[in-house]
Amino acid sequence: MRFYVTTPIYYVNSTPHIGHAYTTIAADILTRHHRQRGEETFFLTGVDEHADKVARVAAEQGLEPKEYADRIVVAWQELPKRLNASNDFFIRTSDEGHHRFVQQFLQRIYDNGDVYEDVYAGFYCYGCEEFKTPDELVDGKCPIHDTVAEWLEEKNYFFRLSAYQEKLLQLYDERPDFVLPHFRYNEARSFIEGGLRDFSISRATQTWGVPIPWDPKQVAYVWADALVNYLSALSYAPGENLERFWPGVHLLAKDILRFHCVYWPALLLAAGYEPPKQLFVHGYLNLDDRKISKSLGNIIDPLDLIDDYGVDPVRFWAARTVSFGQDGNVTLASVQERYERELANDLGNLVSRTTAMIARYRGVTLAKVGGESPVALDALRGDVAERLDVFDITGALEAIWNVVRRLNQYVESTAPWQLAKDESRAAELDAVLYNLADGLTGVAIAVAPYLPETSPRILTALAQSLDLAWDRIGAGVAEAAEGIEPAPPLFPRVELPTAAS
Ligand code: MSP
Repeated sequence: MRFYVTTPIYYVNSTPHIGHAYTTIAADILTRHHRQRGEETFFLTGVDEHADKVARVAAEQGLEPKEYADRIVVAWQELPKRLNASNDFFIRTSDEGHHRFVQQFLQRIYDNGDVYEDVYAGFYCYGCEEFKTPDELVDGKCPIHDTVAEWLEEKNYFFRLSAYQEKLLQLYDERPDFVLPHFRYNEARSFIEGGLRDFSISRATQTWGVPIPWDPKQVAYVWADALVNYLSALSYAPGENLERFWPGVHLLAKDILRFHCVYWPALLLAAGYEPPKQLFVHGYLNLDDRKISKSLGNIIDPLDLIDDYGVDPVRFWAARTVSFGQDGNVTLASVQERYERELANDLGNLVSRTTAMIARYRGVTLAKVGGESPVALDALRGDVAERLDVFDITGALEAIWNVVRRLNQYVESTAPWQLAKDESRAAELDAVLYNLADGLTGVAIAVAPYLPETSPRILTALAQSLDLAWDRIGAGVAEAAEGIEPAPPLFPRVELPTAAS
């Protein structure tokens, strides 16, 4: 089995915010999980450089677009690193390999007869990089960016999208899970059913971009260049990736649904490639009910949050705070709240107590005791995998947390500190301590994609193997062990975080 996952490539007209971190974290959680299942994985993220808004910001700073991009890309390359994302490649659309591939790709569509020249005039939103119909504007403004759409009239090359309506509908009919969640599938499908208009794939008035191979005076429309990254990266990243990993799975937010769920599969069919395997469209993180975005100015810096809490708590919060797929309002207070209640208390204390009890009552030795797991560890293995197969990142974490909560209840109900006072109940105490260590070992493996730093710390504290293979999750996974000392707190108190202040 192979698993190829991508994030959108982010515009470099500003620095990353929590919304960008969100998709990257989600993609990394899925990648790490599939790796645990023994699959070969490829995880791609990167940046989209050829937007007009990038050229505009560069001009404001008195820089050439490429010069500007070279400076700001550092912040974007830092994002996956600081998030502990295990991406295999970071694409820049200014990469030479990308340019070459885009040119070949567009040439294939041209040669297939799906490109023609025409004049287009209409209102254009530079935030979306998209023409808007009058009914998509509110008082002449784009409702997503709250900026006035500008009149644009150009002689361009057009892609015959209208010719792909039937093929796209057929694809949607054959593959009811092509787009998830299902309400997004319906949204995309009804857009296609409503009739498709050809769109221009070149810009005559811009110079910042990939030159059109048959007419180098024009450059490729930024979306016709950007979408192709999902293929181009596989062609020039080290390794024989194109054959091995295409088609893959795309994660994106609802703002760019049409480009991904309609335009991109049509472009692929026109160029003679297979459409994507699947697309998952998640919602927006909103702050005070407005989408978090640079143009709205209500941004949360993910790096500040990581400085304050560490990377695992930020990943955990991102996966848990809003059901993946839905929109949700987020607050900085909820980061602190989840950190204290769920990470420090539910999980951190449980590890501290369990290791302290083994050290104290059993002289640092864990004995292996057979029997049923009191927290249904075997069911957890299948449950989490099934949920992650349908991108239910939040539900899978909830299933893991149910086990954490049950382990806490188990400590309370079995009261090992009472058992320890009574020599005749030594076997019972052994079983309780084993079940706790066993449950925590299973939890540590299951939660590794979410908490990649914490998971090995739990396993080490319990003197267990660091092997994260998915099929190890189940009753009896923990081995007898020596040298278990009381573990220091996994999530120490965080005082007055700067991001939340
Ligand atoms: N460059 C295009 C994408 C081209 S992909 C071939 C683009 N870039 S972007 O910088 O605007 O990034 C948009 C993506 O960032 C969203 O699709 C989503 O993945 C993520 N998010 C940005 N803001 C977000 C929220 N407030 N909430 C959730 N995700 C957000 O569009």
